[in-house]
Parts: sequence; structure tokens; C-alpha cells
Amino acid sequence: MTNKRQPMPPMSSAEPLLEAARSARARAYAPYSGFKVGAAVETDDGSIVTGANVENASFGLSICAERSALVRAIAEGYRSFRAIAVAGPDGVDTAPCGTCRQFIAEFDATMPVSFTSSDGVVRTTLAELLPYAFTSEALTQT
Ligand code: THU
Repeated sequence: MTNKRQPMPPMSSAEPLLEAARSARARAYAPYSGFKVGAAVETDDGSIVTGANVENASFGLSICAERSALVRAIAEGYRSFRAIAVAGPDGVDTAPCGTCRQFIAEFDATMPVSFTSSDGVVRTTLAELLPYAFTSEALTQT
């Protein structure tokens, strides 16, 4: 993957959010693509909430791991998040898709984002992944 940032060393216990995402990946329901993804969000009180992709026979209804984790966290009452981590198959670029970027922006357009890639772990921010995000601020400007 072409990227300006230096690749990080392999995941370790010093990266609990990414480890949680990797554990959640094992619970993915991906019978159609076979592409399992796990995600984990860290909430403002330091809790970690995980999610995984859940596919459907009507393919377009499938939900990504990132939205799965955020929806679960929101349903549990959390509204503020410190970071999100995404774990895909080893050595595969698994950056959040465009829909998930917009979904994350709803809660923090600058949220730190880590994801596994062919170069190791990429550490970036939502602002870099989705510049000029459309947010609720626009709705107050009319
Ligand atoms: N997927 C995710 O869950 N997150 C990503 O960041 C990329 C893609 C899922 C959606 C679908 O179930 C499968 O991976 C293949 O696209």
C-alpha cells in the first residue's frame, strides 16, 4: 500500500484497541465474501466496544465492522469516542470504506483511525481519510 507514513511494528499488547478488533474479527459473519473484518471503538470513559461485518444474502444489506461497532456502542449509550481500530485479513489493506468514513464522521470528524494493511498498521485520522466531511454543522447554516 502506498502511504507516506512509516509502517508500525506488528500488533502487541500495547495496542489493546487493535487487539480487540482482531478478536472481534473471528466473530464476523461473512459467508459470501469470506472477507472477515473486526472493529473496536474506544469510548470516552475508556471502554472498548467491538463489532464485526455482518453480511446478508441480499448483498447490499451487509454491514461493515466499523458501523457494527459504532451502532452497538451508540445503542449501549455511548456518544463520544477516542478512537476506532479496524482489523482485516493479515497483510490486506483494510481501510474503512467510504460509507463507514461518513458514519464515523457523524461522531467525530477527526477521530483517530487505525487499520491493518499490507504495510502493517496504518495510524491516521478521519480528517485525513475524509476531508471536507459533511456534518451536522451544515444543517445549521441554512
Ligand atoms: N468490510 C468491512 O467490514 N470493513 C471495511 O473496512 C472494508 C469492508 C466488509 C464488508 C463486506 O462484508 C466485506 O468486508 C467485503 O467487502
